[in-house]
Amino acid sequence: MSDQPQPLRAIAASVLLAVENGQSLSQCLPPALARLPMSERPALQALCYGSCRWFHRLDDELQGRLKKPLRASDRVVHHLMLVALFQLRFSQQASYAVLNETVEACRALDKPHLTGLVNGVLRAAERTGAPEPSTDASRVSHPAWMVEKLRHNWPEDWQAIADANNAQAPMTLRVNALRFSRDEYLALLTEAGIDAVATRFAPNGIQLQQPVPVDRLPWFADGAVSVQDEAAQLCTTVLDLAPGQRVLDACAAPGGKTCAILEACSELAEVVAIDESEARLPRVQENLDRLDLAATLKQADAADIDQWWDGEPFDRILLDVPCSASGVIRRHPDIKLLRRESDIVPLASIQLGLLEAMWSILKPGGRLVYATCSVFPQENHRIIQRFRKQQEAALLMEPEVLWGRDMGPGRQLLPDPNSHDGFFYAVLEKPEA
Ligand SMILES: C[S@@+](CC[C@H](N)C(=O)[O-])C[C@H]1O[C@@H](n2cnc3c(N)ncnc32)[C@H](O)[C@@H]1O
Repeated sequence: MSDQPQPLRAIAASVLLAVENGQSLSQCLPPALARLPMSERPALQALCYGSCRWFHRLDDELQGRLKKPLRASDRVVHHLMLVALFQLRFSQQASYAVLNETVEACRALDKPHLTGLVNGVLRAAERTGAPEPSTDASRVSHPAWMVEKLRHNWPEDWQAIADANNAQAPMTLRVNALRFSRDEYLALLTEAGIDAVATRFAPNGIQLQQPVPVDRLPWFADGAVSVQDEAAQLCTTVLDLAPGQRVLDACAAPGGKTCAILEACSELAEVVAIDESEARLPRVQENLDRLDLAATLKQADAADIDQWWDGEPFDRILLDVPCSASGVIRRHPDIKLLRRESDIVPLASIQLGLLEAMWSILKPGGRLVYATCSVFPQENHRIIQRFRKQQEAALLMEPEVLWGRDMGPGRQLLPDPNSHDGFFYAVLEKPEA
């Protein structure tokens, strides 16, 4: 490959290839962005996110246009054509520029033997326009298994869920209640020329009309606000926090909810934040530092309590388990490429195992909040049902809230294009001994 800086589309194609090979956008995009001047970074980000968001629809079209698949060693050119199709179908870019620059990018990727094919495919795509998607899955641009599962789980809502997954998520803030009231911060935003409204359900939430870089947010570096979706903020509304409690955040990184807990109740005895990921745990400390908050951090498998627990039971436990993240696809469209149907059963078993372990260190009379950012019942209310078959004494609480759907055990929020992500919460209490 030449030493020339790579064209944007060539970089985007390589990022897409990395995602297809199992890396998340949050892993492979930052190094690609770092190679570009600041001015070009938003364009690369938009290409990568957009191409992932519409991957299944565009791939359906591309496969229909190719007489035979490219060789495995030329796979990056397949992705280059997907990036170009994304621009033809979903951007304002002039098509002649898309065609010319994609052919250039093909050369820059050291695939000059494929420039004719790229040119021919894209010319035909421009001439004939977008074809009818061949399946529902390609129409809504999701993997077929996911559409089947959504349709099975949410026969009335699957289409709305898929549409919400393809929409741009709003930018939502959590005002640090220790510093400002929501109204005070809304006034600061108005002064700064940033249009925003209060969130409907989260007491300290503010939704911006347009996303802005965080350094434009008043007092951001000083800990006045954090970026956090409204659904995630709701954890503090069901934890029933009170001064003197010892609280565990069992799967804490990057610490959004740990910080929300500390802001919601300033006189907690202690907050212990655990995460098994060595790479992610420092993010919790960074967030705590910016907000001038303190917690006890431990890197451990939360379920392996012998490894980390000091024997002192917790009054409150937040268990925000690892999950399919099927409720936050609009923020992480690469999930549609990364997740496999076969991931769900092992995830459910990890989730149940974590719940059992956390239950054992909850104080009698204490409360445990189980949370996921999933819309699949297998990870949500069915986990609670399975758990309560073993722990019949576990009391299921039904907090009086205005959000979400009652699932028997727990409440399910579906992703809403105008507000919150998809999320699930269930609240359990341990009877007094
Ligand atoms: C959904 S994320 C947590 C998000 C976090 N609560 C927040 O609001 O910022 C799940 C986290 O669980 C961690 N994790 C997965 N398995 C774990 C385990 N057995 N013990 C502790 N942490 C675990 C992952 O590293 C990941 O950071």
